[in-house]
Amino acid sequence: MFKNFFRTCFFFLVLLSQALPIRADEGMWLPMLIHQKIPQMKELGSRLAAEDIYSMNRACLKDAIVHFGGGCTGEVISAEGLLITNHHCGYGQIQSHSTVEHDYLKDGFWARTRQEELPNKTLTVTFLRKMEDVTQQVLEGVTAQMSEVERQGLIDANIKTISEQTLQGLDRKFYSVRITPAYYGNQYFLYLNETFRDVRLVGAPPSSIGKFGGDTDNWMWPRHTGDFSLFRIYAGPDNQPADYSPDNVPYRPRHHLTISAKGVQPGDFTMVYGYPGRTQQYVLSPAVDYLVNHSNPQKIRLRTLRLDVMNREQAKDPAVRIQYSSKNAGVSNSWKKWQGETRGIINAGTIAKKQDFERRFQQWAVDSGRQEYINLIPAMKELYCQLEPYMFASEMYTEAVMAVELLRFASNLESTLVRNGTARAAEVARDFFKDYFLPIDREIFELLFTEFYRLMEPIAHLLPGDAPEGQPLAAAGDFDQLTTATDFAQLAASLYNTSALTDRQKTMELLAKDSAQALSLIREDPAFRLVSPFVEKNRTAIQPQITEINRELNLLYRTWIQAIMEFDSDRIFYPDANSTLRVTYGTVQGYSPADAVMYLPVSTIDGIMQKDDPNIFDYDIPQSLRDIYTVRDFGHWSSNGTVTVCFIATNHTSGGNSGSPVLNADGHLLGLNFDRVWEGTMSDIEFDPSVCRNISVDIRYVLFVMEKIGKAEYLFKELDICKE
Ligand code: ARG
Ligand code: GLU
Repeated sequence: MFKNFFRTCFFFLVLLSQALPIRADEGMWLPMLIHQKIPQMKELGSRLAAEDIYSMNRACLKDAIVHFGGGCTGEVISAEGLLITNHHCGYGQIQSHSTVEHDYLKDGFWARTRQEELPNKTLTVTFLRKMEDVTQQVLEGVTAQMSEVERQGLIDANIKTISEQTLQGLDRKFYSVRITPAYYGNQYFLYLNETFRDVRLVGAPPSSIGKFGGDTDNWMWPRHTGDFSLFRIYAGPDNQPADYSPDNVPYRPRHHLTISAKGVQPGDFTMVYGYPGRTQQYVLSPAVDYLVNHSNPQKIRLRTLRLDVMNREQAKDPAVRIQYSSKNAGVSNSWKKWQGETRGIINAGTIAKKQDFERRFQQWAVDSGRQEYINLIPAMKELYCQLEPYMFASEMYTEAVMAVELLRFASNLESTLVRNGTARAAEVARDFFKDYFLPIDREIFELLFTEFYRLMEPIAHLLPGDAPEGQPLAAAGDFDQLTTATDFAQLAASLYNTSALTDRQKTMELLAKDSAQALSLIREDPAFRLVSPFVEKNRTAIQPQITEINRELNLLYRTWIQAIMEFDSDRIFYPDANSTLRVTYGTVQGYSPADAVMYLPVSTIDGIMQKDDPNIFDYDIPQSLRDIYTVRDFGHWSSNGTVTVCFIATNHTSGGNSGSPVLNADGHLLGLNFDRVWEGTMSDIEFDPSVCRNISVDIRYVLFVMEKIGKAEYLFKELDICKE
């Protein structure tokens, strides 16, 4: 019966060279300029032409890729708008449909009919329709004599005009333009995007598969996670983007990906096509120093406090486990990444390497009499010194003050009321209380505030109010007067006992009043009174400074990039990631994480069984998987008597590449990118080809889980699967 699912696929016959070149596959390339990299890709085995990847003239791979929910990547895999992304990318949606009775996180979810596909209020997917180099238009009229303020004013005006022109005749609800600088403003690119607003959940494996290994294995290899979920894009009857409506129909995409069930071999070419978020490859040593020695350690510490509370409370109560699962995953993910990143940067000696580079650069600038470059590094270092306290304060506000759910909620609610009125505020409140467990939040408040005031002591002037030394202990309940000497346990008690915003019913009653009245009640609430001075201080005395210093820094970085392109002319340059569509390529390869240890590039279902342990939450697999394994019922998805689960390759990826298609030499789907290896998480700053690897789930494991665990083979009818 499965024969029907496989299509005959024709390939160009090209003999692969036997040698596996070891090379640095660093770089995140702009699709529009990919023709420049085609020769290198061919060398690694690719058979793709530039037009297959990006074309304005015909449907191509780009037309199957979406920015999923703004933070992940997804790809269309059927002519009926079926979309695949990671389980962790659909996690919030899967959770939002889950209750203790219908726990889709725990048990998985499979829509058996189109009617059962679940709409998601705020989920969107965005296609890139066109990109263009608009540097000339953006810099139109800019002269060397202009002051930077004039220059930026003109650039902003030009960007506005170009955007307006591009959007003419298009419905702005569904089309948008982004014009973003590359290389700190040395170039500008325009992106015209089309956004679909009716995206429904189609399927997800149980978390014990989709999040197998949990946060224990997160950011690590060897890995065995079936990190996928399925959605469907719906459009109006005219196939155009539309708001949710029961009358919408499955979207017919310009292109959808063919799936390759052939699997990977070490050395195989792979390409990742998606939306990496942010990298900083060209920053100066002080930026890395700040990250590794100041920012990361303190953020990690604050998040450890939060996670300990959540983990403990979630383990006690299944309802709380669901409520906090998505929050916990989010907090934990960066917490762990920062640890890997810090370690990786230290191991790679990045700071010393950068310092050495800066010394050599300085020498060169002096020796070659490049006046315009001589003061560059000192000026940038000076700006970093100015920036650091504001940056640190801003991060601490985010990681401590705004990490308290009640305070963030109070602040949100007030601004929603001001901007959108009571109906929208009531919605915000309902969403908040659905996943709110007061004891967790209250304990976190106490822990974080205590730590926050300690960390802020050297920069106490960036706290709200002036907290002169020796100020008397703020009376508990005196919410506008916090000082370093506040007794936060006492304060927590009175805050959480007196605020109406800890209680669903009281909050709803409050929001049922007319909006002026509701607003004044919220402004009087202790939670709002407590958070408001922080919000104000941040808005008036921290963010403006950061913006201003960064503006100056960016100007110097614009010159810095030109300078290092001249100084280091052999180096390969690519623009830092900025949440725009990129191509990266490499080959399937293991690596050595430590002396005398070598990791293979492929993991199998046997490894799942080795980790399986019903007593450990992260390693407790579904009984059905155990049963299938016992009889080795792997169907069409086995190779060498087992099932490949994940593989690693040398593709240069970042956060946001989650869910990105991993494509073979013919552009067929081999798997989904979902992570990086522990030793290589510093690649946003320094890509070390010997240890930087991206981790993908093999598409054959996805199909295996769909068929054998989800019993969802009815979806296979829609797919184009090549076996040969
Ligand atoms: N580390 C991957 C990424 O950055 C996977 C995250 C999944 N979440 C988790 N907490 N395990 O998104
Ligand atoms: N899991 C990450 C994401 O959500 C991708 C891993 C990475 O940062 O490389 O995008």
